[in-house]
This record gives sequence, C-alpha cells and structure tokens, in this order.
Amino acid sequence: MENNNDISLREYDLSLRPKRLEEYIGQEAIKEMLNVFITSALTREETLDHVLLYGPPGLGKTTLAHIIANEMSAQIYSVAAPSLDRVGDLVAILSKLNAGDFLFIDEIHRLPRVVEEVLYSAMEDYVVNVIVGKDATANTIKIVLPPFTLVGATTRCGDITAPLRDRFGIVHQINYYPPAEIMEIVKRTSRVFAFAIDEDAAWEIAKRSRGTPRIANRLFRRVRDFAQFEDPDCEKISLPVTMTALTKLNIDEAGLNETDYRYLLAIIEMFGGGPVGLNALGSAISEDLTTLEDVYEPYLLQEGFIVRTPRGRIATQKAYDHLGIKHENRLF
Ligand code: ADE
Repeated sequence: MENNNDISLREYDLSLRPKRLEEYIGQEAIKEMLNVFITSALTREETLDHVLLYGPPGLGKTTLAHIIANEMSAQIYSVAAPSLDRVGDLVAILSKLNAGDFLFIDEIHRLPRVVEEVLYSAMEDYVVNVIVGKDATANTIKIVLPPFTLVGATTRCGDITAPLRDRFGIVHQINYYPPAEIMEIVKRTSRVFAFAIDEDAAWEIAKRSRGTPRIANRLFRRVRDFAQFEDPDCEKISLPVTMTALTKLNIDEAGLNETDYRYLLAIIEMFGGGPVGLNALGSAISEDLTTLEDVYEPYLLQEGFIVRTPRGRIATQKAYDHLGIKHENRLF
C-alpha cells in the first residue's frame, strides 16, 4: 500500500501531476460534475460517494483520484488490484482507514471474486464480515469500518461485474484528449520542468501523442534529451529538434509506433485486410493480447484505422492510405 505522503520512486512523476481540479487540463464535463459532487459533500460534511473512473491507460485516472482526495482534504491510499490476492489483504487495508480516507484501487477489474465480494458490504454499509476458523469452529467476525471513499480505476469497464459497478455512485469515462488539450499539457510540463518549448514544437508533440497525457509527457522528456544532447546549453525545445527526435523514436505523424505498424501490416499482408481474430493477430506479431486490446486497439479504433466486427478486426481504407498500400477491393 502506498501512502501519498511517502517519498517514493514515483515522486518525480507525481510532481508532474496536477494537485487541484482547476490545474487539471481537459475532461471539462467530468471536472464540472466532480466539482459539484465534491463541493456538496464538503458542504454536508460527508464523505464523497464511491467513484469509478474508466478509460484507456495514461489518460489521468490516477491523477484524478489523487486530485479528488486532495480536494476533499483527505488522505489517499493506493493499491493495485492484482496485489490483493486474498481477502485478508483487503481487510488489512480497510481496517487501517480513518474516517474520510480515500482508498484507490487501480485495475479494479482484476480483483479476485472472493475479494470483490468483501468490498460489497464495505462500500455499501462500511462493514466487512470475515470468517475465521474452519468447519465446526468457523465464526463470522463483523468489522465496522469508518466511512471512506473508494475510487476504482479500470481500463476495462466491461469486465467489472454488475454488483461492483452498481455500488459506485459516481461513474466517469475518461476519453482521449484532443491535440489542443494535449498541447496545453505539454506546455504545463515545460513550465514544471522549467524547460521552454516553442509553440510549433509543442503542437508537434501534441499531435503525435495519441491523445494521451502520459505519452505526451514521455515524448517531452525524450525530445528534451535530444535537444540537450545536441547542445548542452540548450534552454528551449525547437521544432527541428522535435522532428529529429520523433523520427528517431519511430513515431509517425499520426502518433503510430512500430507496434501499430506491425499490427496493421499483419492484418493487411498476412490476413488479407481481415477480418482476423485477436488471437491469430497476437500470435502473428508476438504481442501480448491484453496490451493489444487495452493499449493499441482503442486508439486505432478511435482514429478509424481499424474496425471491429463480430468476425474480427478489419483494416480500413484509412489504414491502407496511411501505410501507402493499395487497397484492392475484393469482389464477393
Ligand atoms: N498530467 C496528466 N494528465 C493531466 C491533465 N489532464 N492535466 C494536466 N496535467 C496532466
């Protein structure tokens, strides 16, 4: 369990993260609603209802969870669902919570079923019932918890069971950011790192960041590396060095990288443009299926490079055009 006051390896990264809702760029509709729910909960001096945030990785779900807790002046504890193997692991964390604390569970769709079931009563009634002993000596102990707020994050809303989902009073989907908002995030990063960037360079990074702040921040750091490597006295990222860096990093003008290319080329060249199932595709390019489904496909789908049909993935005309491959319309 990680306390947000701990000095951890992630401190560097966390310093980039905005602490207040008003510093958080984009996702305006979500921010507006969260502001209403937070302000009202503070007025009533109540804990905030449980919050579920879902959407592709790198869009700021963890950041938002910390911001919400911060806005409520609450302590937040973070844990990744896969580390909660047994009921005891969760109970140990829950029983340490104080009134008003936040518990952030990342990848909440990966909770084992028995652990998830303990969460139901914890979320609904702030109690957990633990069975101790076995068979004839088995006893149920009821542990009363203080009121707390659970924030769950997931890349796979569809994998969350209905009973768990229903227990979240506030549910928001985080979407990819438009390039103009990513550009603002890049400019903010430049201010946090006190390393200037030209407007056109910031825009170039924004366009190639797949609508994802985490990618934008990573590209900013890599481009800054190139800039300082070329000129150790450099104090500003320019467009030419940005273009050089992004080309060397194999990130094309649409933000696609080598894996996207291998994925699209496999559909087109090995499977005749599709439809092809995920398993076949994953084996063809030796990529982990979960990574393909959670990281690569959502962006390719949203940008219209592929479509998903019940029979599998199909490369679109846009994919052919982008790769410079002629699309021979096959006759039925
Ligand atoms: N860093 C990551 N996501 C962000 C956002 N939406 N606004 C500002 N900084 C961020």
